[in-house]
Amino acid sequence: MALRKILTQEEATLHKVCREVTKFDSKLCELLDDMTETLYDANGVGLAAPQVGILRRVVVIDTGDEVVEMVNPKILETSGEQDGMEGCLSVPGEYWLVKRPSVVKATAQDREGNWFEIEAEGLIARCICHECDHLDGHLYTEIAYRKLTEEEIASLQGAEDEE
Ligand code: NI
Repeated sequence: MALRKILTQEEATLHKVCREVTKFDSKLCELLDDMTETLYDANGVGLAAPQVGILRRVVVIDTGDEVVEMVNPKILETSGEQDGMEGCLSVPGEYWLVKRPSVVKATAQDREGNWFEIEAEGLIARCICHECDHLDGHLYTEIAYRKLTEEEIASLQGAEDEE
């Protein structure tokens, strides 16, 4: 496994549409392993392949339970609405408020090509939407409606330190 460099928003790669994965081979396994290692190293909750310079439809998400690997993910249904803070490893140091569906039903393939379905709510639902947007070349700041101020970020970090 190896850490990959995370691209930031000015890179053209982050604004392109990714291609489907068609080969479920050792190269894909290596990419998924590297993406998970890179995600943990950066203390993120989700990472999409274009963020490490690979224009393929691959996502890893870990909101605290275990890593979920999603290859060729598709959102099937959404419902409800949640309003909250989001960040992105490709937009370092910024947090914005974004409205997302509260429940998301999605399908994806695992690293062997087997399709599975996932029904998620809360943070995982938010994360699936955020990462799937990356695969279509979109950053969350395009749909965010307000940027958190330095003071708001500082008070959030203070709250985290107390936990
Ligand atoms: Ni992101």
